Formats: sequence, C-alpha cells, structure tokens
Amino acid sequence: MTHERLAVLDFGSQYTPLIARRLRELGVLAEIFPADVSPERLVGAGLKGVILSGGPASVTEPDSPRPAEGLLAVDVPVLGVCYGMQLLNQLGGGRVVPGATREYGRAELTEASGPLFDGLSAHPTVWMSHGDRLDDLAPGWRVAARTNHGIVAAIAHETLPRHAVQFHPEVTHTPEGRQILSNFVFGVCGCRGDWSVQAYMEESIAEVRAQVGQAPVIVLVSGGVDSTVTAALLARALPPEQVFPIHIDSGLMRAGESEAVATFLREAGLVNLRVVHAQPRFLEALSGVADPEEKRRRIGDVFIEVQNAELAQLGFDAESAFLAQGTLYTDMIESGASGAHTATIKTHHNVGTPLVRAMREAGRLVEPCRGIFKDEVRALGLLLGLPRELVMRHPFPGPGLAIRVLGAITPERLAIVREADRIYLEEIRRAGLYDAIWQAFAALLPVHAVGVQGDGRTVGEVVALRAVDSVDGMTADFHPVPFEVLGRAASRIVNEIRGVTRVVFDVTSKPPATIEWE
Ligand code: XMP
Repeated sequence: MTHERLAVLDFGSQYTPLIARRLRELGVLAEIFPADVSPERLVGAGLKGVILSGGPASVTEPDSPRPAEGLLAVDVPVLGVCYGMQLLNQLGGGRVVPGATREYGRAELTEASGPLFDGLSAHPTVWMSHGDRLDDLAPGWRVAARTNHGIVAAIAHETLPRHAVQFHPEVTHTPEGRQILSNFVFGVCGCRGDWSVQAYMEESIAEVRAQVGQAPVIVLVSGGVDSTVTAALLARALPPEQVFPIHIDSGLMRAGESEAVATFLREAGLVNLRVVHAQPRFLEALSGVADPEEKRRRIGDVFIEVQNAELAQLGFDAESAFLAQGTLYTDMIESGASGAHTATIKTHHNVGTPLVRAMREAGRLVEPCRGIFKDEVRALGLLLGLPRELVMRHPFPGPGLAIRVLGAITPERLAIVREADRIYLEEIRRAGLYDAIWQAFAALLPVHAVGVQGDGRTVGEVVALRAVDSVDGMTADFHPVPFEVLGRAASRIVNEIRGVTRVVFDVTSKPPATIEWE
C-alpha cells in the first residue's frame, strides 16, 4: 500500500521535527527534507502536501534559504509556517520588511477565516516568534487572520490550496494548533490518516526480512531503549539464531542497567548474545580527559575498537553480515545525514563511525527505527511486547555517565554519580513522578563544597539533580519536582554516599541551557 506522505521542508527551525511529529500523530507519514530538496525527489507516490517550516533566517537577506526552482509549482496543497509564510509571500510577489522589534510569545487571533480555522474558538491563542512582517500582500492572496496587535497572522491564496501562518501551530503554546494542522491535513490536503506505529512495525518487519534474507545480523545493543527495541524487532522478524546481539558493558551505564538488558535479550530467545565487559578499557581511554567532546570521541573510538574485535572473532564483515542499530529519525536529522538544515548538535557515533559508514555504503545497515521519533519507538516497543518499565525508561546519552561526571573521570567519581542517580530515581519513582518527567538524572560537578559531618568540617563533592519536561529533547523546561522529594533524595545522597557534601537542583530550561551538563 502506498502511504500518504507529507513533506516538511526544513528551513532550520528548532521546531521542524515537531511539525513532523504532530502530523504523524494525525496519522500521516510526515518526512523532513532539506529546504532546497529538488522537486523530483519530493514529488512521488502518495505526496499529499508540502509544509515550509520556520527558520532563524530572514527572507529579506539575500542568502537566506529558498526552496529549489520549480518546487512551489507542485500541485499539492502548501502550508507555510513563520519563515515559510514570509517566503510564500515574497516569492509570490509580495513584500516582507524587517520588523522594528521581534514579536515573541502569546498572541490572540482576530478575524480568523478560511479552512484552517474551521471549528476553532473565536479568539484562539497562538505562539509567535518572528522579527519580519508582511508589508505588501502577494497578488492573489488575502489576509486570513490578524493578531490582537493588528499584525498579519495568517494568509491564504484566493484560488489555490495555499495557506500560511505566522505563528507556530506545532507547539503546545498554541493550544488549538492541533486543530489547525488537522484542518490542513484532512480539510485541505484530503488525507485519510491511516499511518500508525502498528503499520510502521509491520512494514519494518517485512522490510528487514527482505533486506537481510538468510544472512547473519549483528545488533549492537547499547542498553538504551532504541537499541533494545531494535533487537526486539529483529527477534520478531527473524529466527533467533540469525541475530547476533553484542552488548558492550562500558561501565558507564546507570545502576543495574547492563544486567537488565542482558537478561531481557536472553529471555527474548537471542541465544547468540555476547556481553563484553569493557569498563577498564573505557576508563583507561578517559583517564585525565575533561573536555566533553573529547570524552565523546574517545568513548566512540573504544566502542569501535571493541566492536571490531568482537566482529573479527565472529568472523563477520561488511560482505557477509548486516549490522543493525537503533538510530532514530532525530539522530539522522541532527547529524545532518538527512541533508536537513538543522545544526549538528551532538556527535552521534551511531551515524558516523567508519564501520557504520562502510556498512551503509554496502547497503548492509539495518535501522528499523530510523523513520520514527522517540515516543513512536516507545510505542513500537510496547507493541513488540517489551516490558513497560524498560520501554518507558528516561532517555540516556550514548556516552553515558562519562558526561555526567564533569571534568576528569575516576572510578570513584563514576561510582558516586551512579549511586546518586540510583537514589534520586528511586525517590522520583516512589513519589510516582517518573512517568510524568521526561528525563531525570544526577550529575557530579567539578567543584567542591564544604560540609559539616560528625564533629568536623569536611570538603566533598557536589551532586546536581536535574529533571526536565520535553517532547523530543530539542527544547525542555525544568520539572518542578516537589521540595519534599528533592529533600529526601538530597538527604539520602549525602548520608549514603561517602564524599558528597552537597546537593543542588538545576532550574534552567533548554534553551538557553542544554539538558545534560556536558
Ligand atoms: P542536550 O544535553 O543536548 O540533550 O540538551 C538532549 C538529549 O540528548 C541526550 N544526549 C545525548 N545522546 N549522545 C547521545 O546519544 C550524546 O552525546 C548526547 N548528549 C546528550 C540527552 O541525554 C538528552 O536526552
């Protein structure tokens, strides 16, 4: 069956992946493309609409990103969002001018009319974030909504199915944004909405079978949700003897995690599981290294060395075997592998190692989660019968606790952060907060603080606790963990872990901070 598809052109907004996710929630497969994707690549079976995302550039600058020649001649509906709206106006012959001030935050719509606004309240709240404004409307277009400050908030073409909004319907700060997107998807594009994670799973299973045939498939199971779901999908798609899971225990995992993953894989019938205990090698490589990106590089390198040694032992290479891994859609976007504009935020060693590149070039990479977002991976894991507790675990960075021990890593400091994290998460769980929080963890700061323990003053380590609410890790707010819970966690941490004298709680959002401390 050909799926209906929506194409989201990425002009660099941090919200671009969110647009795609929202459209998928409505049951249509939305895919992100680089802003200058060729019309040939875009147009094809099932294309029902094109969305031009927002972006940080200004259309009034000569070098700002544009769609490729001929792209806007596609005969499917188009929706412009923010920068996308200004582009549509300018390319249509209208005028956009730099605004005197940036408009940020909530606004109310007035005089909203046309199909995008069907079924909405009279004055919907919307989230604005823009500097430029429309001066002259392009010929053939009309104003479809204004804000309470009189600014043009939406425009629509008089005769063609083209719409554009200045605000962000994809963010939760636009409470009726889902209805607006739904009006576009169903009312304007005429989609059926039959895409689902279940449909994705069935297709992935068929695809894996067709791709690998009888060949062995190695799967690198880091222990996180993504690679575990990947292994579970392989266990469903192929005879268990055909799958070779390798779990490298780096010693940088959360408490008990390596053991739990190994147990799960064994129980899933994956008899070829290899668990490599490599903590000493990782610690050695990290000795004296304080720079976070250097830590990431070294960890990546050791992973590669250990992997290569394991593969050599198995006697597999890019000619004889396939390699499966838990790459997500967001990894592909953030690493720029999709060609999209969004900046490379982190070095994802999933996407870029020499082995992975060789496997990718040979067409021997199996990445069943590469088309879906984190929460869709979780839904897929549940469909595959993984335990809820495992699937709903908070995200955990590939370099693990190494980037949560700020500054140089020692086995002692690693043990402290692991134990602090365990205690903190135990208290979070006990308070029934775990599922409400997107990610919570402890980090060990590179400073010391004075304490008084027993009869004397002591100097010890400082643990920072963090908890954030997020949708996809791209933006985040700190989660207001109740003081009683923080107090309990702090008191247990200083009492139960030798060498810790102080615990602090991080109340910054992302941006401007990041979720991790390194
Ligand atoms: P930041 O700190 O960039 O984190 O706001 C966003 C999300 O990504 C995770 N993270 C990483 N994941 N390798 C990973 O696989 C990394 O190097 C890395 N750094 C951060 C982080 O835990 C959060 O969920």
